[in-house]
Amino acid sequence: MKPIQLACIVGARPNFMKMAPLLRALDAETLAGKVVATLIHTGQHYDKNLSEVFFEELGMRRPDLSLEVGSGSHAVQTARVLERMEEVLGKGPAGGGRFDRLVVVGDVNSTMAASLAAVKMGISVAHVEAGLRSFDRTMPEEINRIVTDSISDMLLVSDPAGIENLAREGHPAEQVHLVGNVMIDTLMRMLPRARELDGPGRLGLQAGHYGVVTLHRPANVDDPDVLAGLVDVLVDISADIPLVFPVHPRTTERLTRAGLLGRFEQAPGIHLLSPLGYLDFLSLTSQARVIVTDSGGLQEESTVLGIPCLTMRPNTERPVTVEEGTSTLIGSDPDKLRRHLVEVLEGRYRQGRCPDLWDGQAAGRIAALLVADIKGDAA
Ligand code: UD1
Repeated sequence: MKPIQLACIVGARPNFMKMAPLLRALDAETLAGKVVATLIHTGQHYDKNLSEVFFEELGMRRPDLSLEVGSGSHAVQTARVLERMEEVLGKGPAGGGRFDRLVVVGDVNSTMAASLAAVKMGISVAHVEAGLRSFDRTMPEEINRIVTDSISDMLLVSDPAGIENLAREGHPAEQVHLVGNVMIDTLMRMLPRARELDGPGRLGLQAGHYGVVTLHRPANVDDPDVLAGLVDVLVDISADIPLVFPVHPRTTERLTRAGLLGRFEQAPGIHLLSPLGYLDFLSLTSQARVIVTDSGGLQEESTVLGIPCLTMRPNTERPVTVEEGTSTLIGSDPDKLRRHLVEVLEGRYRQGRCPDLWDGQAAGRIAALLVADIKGDAA
């Protein structure tokens, strides 16, 4: 029997840690001869620290194809992926024939655009991390999630809320599979190596006695007044606990434009860094006292690590991290951020638990479904 031909898509930073374990499971000897995975990188992220470093550290093989779409407005970026994906999918896999299925992860523009190109060419789509909903349609990622799920026919879900959301939207139950959290596969695999790196020590910090900050979403960084309010609190708190802040390129640009970068640079307790690789970042987050972030994935990682996470969003598509995990929604409210930081520093923050199936084995479950489904013998 001919092997199943999968086109696996990555584009932006949060995709790599989700695709790496899946690719490893698909490439594993147990599936040899059954499945061939072609890795396609759209090039949405192209900086070394937002892309290349993840291939090196996660041991992920190099992309078979690179589309080099680069940055641009949402429409431009989406259009470039659509156009270039159509061409690549039309050519088919290296050995000839047709792709049987596209596999996408997460909710970035590349995820949505690649899925749309595939489905219009009659190639079915499997979406890993399906069913997440913030119910906030001002977020580009929410639109990407809704569109991608609506055109996918294999919906691979990381927590039970996703099952409910997809049922409410009318997806047939046989297309929806609770598989757990593939990003946590990577976290569990890499944690021992990350701890060996002693990220805090190298910055002159002590494990458990610093915080980690990441901010890049438009709601927090695009309005200079909102950004200034957050900068005030972070600078003040850094007098009590040092804060490490690896800064996303768009945030550096916004801080500079708002004339706020100097406030951070002059604060002795603030450690501004370029975006970090996976291991360096995990080395810091896993030993932090607190995490302040507007990232989606970090809400999940902090939950598994048991580190308090103050989420700078008014809502989350990952409610399990609030209900069971360690995350608290802060919005962009500086006073609330200050109150909760004080609560953490005074040791009054609640404990969480690790959600079911966030066990490091999600990629194997997904690979098994992908192989079974196309052979027509899925459960
Ligand atoms: C994207 C994802 C977001 C994810 C984030 C993680 C979408 C809609 N958003 O947001 O969900 O949380 O990645 O990082 O897909 N830039 C560089 N170098 C790069 C890439 C981008 O400097 O390698 C700069 C460019 O100025 C670019 C800006 O960052 O215009 C934004 O990049 P883009 O890919 O559009 O979105 P992110 O904000 O990175």
